[in-house]
Amino acid sequence: MSDSGARGREGAAPVRGLTVVVAVLTTIVLVFVVRRVAGDWPHILDGTVPDDDLAESYVAHPWLAYTHIVPGVVYLLGAPLQLSRRFRTRHYTAHRRLGRVLVACALVSGVLAVVLGIVFAWGGVAETLASLLFGTWFVVCLVRAVVAIRGGRVAEHRRWMVRAFAVGTGIASIRIWVGIFTGIQLGVLGMHDETFPIPSTFGLAFWLGLGLHVLVGEWWLRRTPALDA
Ligand code: HEM
Repeated sequence: MSDSGARGREGAAPVRGLTVVVAVLTTIVLVFVVRRVAGDWPHILDGTVPDDDLAESYVAHPWLAYTHIVPGVVYLLGAPLQLSRRFRTRHYTAHRRLGRVLVACALVSGVLAVVLGIVFAWGGVAETLASLLFGTWFVVCLVRAVVAIRGGRVAEHRRWMVRAFAVGTGIASIRIWVGIFTGIQLGVLGMHDETFPIPSTFGLAFWLGLGLHVLVGEWWLRRTPALDA
């Protein structure tokens, strides 16, 4: 049995598992995008104000919000293809062209994520600080990935792109944490009179969602140093 054959079989299971996780996280993001558009756009078009604080920010600053969301979604949908070795080796030119578009989208979304963390800070200072830290980290990973590939350092390029993608998919985990906290607040503590989720738990969800994804990204890179996904 050749080394690469053994490595290929060893790596297939984790990559398949990761594919399922990424598909679930991407679906969560798409559901929230649809909810956002369905909730905000009638107000944006009619010039009315929604009676929900968070939605009010989205309706008041649609350009800011959607210049973050739309390129972010384009990046999230395209990045898994770029990280697939099969696609890269078979369609190298497409990988390079698509890569330029996706990096540009991710940079725009990432820079505006920091602005959103200040302007839309419904989760308070905790959300602002998390957006500042992880948004900056996201942009740094992308820039380092580009610098690495310009210098011909493919393995380093892959590592920074995996790190960026780990943060990008973390935004879906934020929604999972918000769901867990809302369930505890309503189902376990019976706090029906409070707004939900409580803004401080929203900030905490940012730290948990994004922080754990950074750690999982590092774990993945250690677990699969020779893999391309
Ligand atoms: C790269 C892919 C990304 C996509 C597709 C994306 C998508 C979204 C979406 C759909 C929303 C609206 C959320 C809702 O209605 O519940 C949102 C809001 C927001 N995003 Fe992103 N985002 C991305 C990256 C990031 C990153 C890396 C950060 C920060 C580290 C970030 C920070 C924020 C903040 C602070 C808000 C406003 C607060 C909120 O409503 O959650 N985003 N983003």
